[in-house]
Amino acid sequence: MIKNQWYAVLPSKAVRQNRIVAAKRLNLELAFFRTESGALGCVADQCTHRGAALSKGVVKGECISCPFHALEFDATGACRFIPANGKASTQNIERYNVKHYPVREAHGIIYLWYGEEGKEIEELPFFPDELDESYAFSELEDHWNSHYSRCIENQLDVVHVPIVHYNTIGRGNKTLVNGPRVEYTDGVILTSANNETDQGQKPKPPAQCVIKPTYLKFRFPNIWLNHISDRVKVMIYFAPVDEENTVLYIRFYSKATGMRWLNQIIAQIGKPMNKVIERQDKRVVITQKPKVSSFRSGEKLLTGDGPILMYRKIRDEYQTKSAE
Ligand code: FES
Ligand SMILES: [Fe+2]
Repeated sequence: MIKNQWYAVLPSKAVRQNRIVAAKRLNLELAFFRTESGALGCVADQCTHRGAALSKGVVKGECISCPFHALEFDATGACRFIPANGKASTQNIERYNVKHYPVREAHGIIYLWYGEEGKEIEELPFFPDELDESYAFSELEDHWNSHYSRCIENQLDVVHVPIVHYNTIGRGNKTLVNGPRVEYTDGVILTSANNETDQGQKPKPPAQCVIKPTYLKFRFPNIWLNHISDRVKVMIYFAPVDEENTVLYIRFYSKATGMRWLNQIIAQIGKPMNKVIERQDKRVVITQKPKVSSFRSGEKLLTGDGPILMYRKIRDEYQTKSAE
């Protein structure tokens, strides 16, 4: 995992008011909760008293209460009340504080800060140039037994499209991979497929290819966009669970018409198709070994794997930097 980044980890709607949700993310067992006032909190899902899972407790006003002996913790993880000691005893209560994790919300997504507290970046990763409130979207969720690096690479893989998706988005047997051209600026990888039917011609080198209007964009650390047209887009956030598991949240965005209700229907119609495509990918990606991809893995990449190589290189740079 790359440190000191905001990771998109859960849909906002997964954590309802007065509810606590257990979720493993970034190798951490976490309890996400929304208090009575609607404030979002995230703490380690392990009580400091005797280790019970706080996610099995309940929300009490602006705190959560442990299911075992009812110690109460607020959204910053601070211990506020120990029933066994009584209301009058607050001495050294901070000794029971649980580890808390900064969380923020935008675009219906919960972002978790993974790294040093106090070093939070202001901006949350998203695609403000491509997606705004005028779009309607549907969201599909699926669990893959793969590390998130492999899931992301799959979405940057223009070589697999005519093979894995031969009867869906890769129809037409365009197996010859020109380029592709790959650009990188400020945490964003940009590329587009430029495949052709193999009629004996040589593939064009990346320098002779352009970024097409139908492009792919990846923003570190874990969100991706397929710009299908100015009115239709697919966005995925890859929530890292641990070294071998990822939850994918796939959104189909539409503003194909001027009517929001109709766009909503179109977004819903796009969902089953996305599911078919996603299952085609999943079947293969979960078999990849080793589970975690790496810049120094020794895998024998093709010229067409340029976007994957770029992802590995930049990820490696981020990792080196965050380890310093
Ligand atoms: S284990 Fe949580 S209050 Fe005792
Ligand atoms: Fe795919």
